[in-house]
Amino acid sequence: MLKRLHLTASMLALFCIATFFLSTILVETMGARQSIAQLKHLIVSPGLWVLIPTMVLAGASGMLLSRSRQGRLVGAKKKRMPFISANGLLVLVPCAIALNLWAATGRFDMWFYIVQVIELIAGAVNLTLMGLNVRDGLRLSGRLQRAIPHGR
Ligand code: HEM
Repeated sequence: MLKRLHLTASMLALFCIATFFLSTILVETMGARQSIAQLKHLIVSPGLWVLIPTMVLAGASGMLLSRSRQGRLVGAKKKRMPFISANGLLVLVPCAIALNLWAATGRFDMWFYIVQVIELIAGAVNLTLMGLNVRDGLRLSGRLQRAIPHGR
């Protein structure tokens, strides 16, 4: 049950960040200002209302699962989690809120794009760290085998 909760919450959180990231790149390169404003709004609501609880659930269920497991992979996942949370709460959430407010009032100035680039970089960092947590998680659960060299 706990494992299923962890898998569902963590994959949903990863899916949210990947969707925000890809849709931002698509709409910023091809969309009109109105579409950009619409997307910025959707990322805040309902986006953050889905992302934040699923991220908290992923972290909390992961911590509970790690009570009965030890080792390098669990240690690496534990070390990544504070960076993922801090990056999310201190960079991604404030950026998403600021960009939504500015886009809603038609403010697409230099600051909008500076904050947009910061958000994309922070998003890429979290995608990478969460991707590594998925890889190590799948190794821990035995769903992903390490490559074994042939002929040895
Ligand atoms: C957003 C961050 C995280 C993501 C994306 C993530 C992802 C995953 C995934 C995909 C699995 C495989 C589940 C399965 O195959 O059923 C897993 C397993 C696991 N995760 Fe996480 N995880 C995260 C955070 C954490 C944290 C903070 C810990 C604490 C150390 C943790 C500990 C574990 C453990 C111990 C397992 C193995 C469960 C088992 O099979 O016994 N995870 N994780």
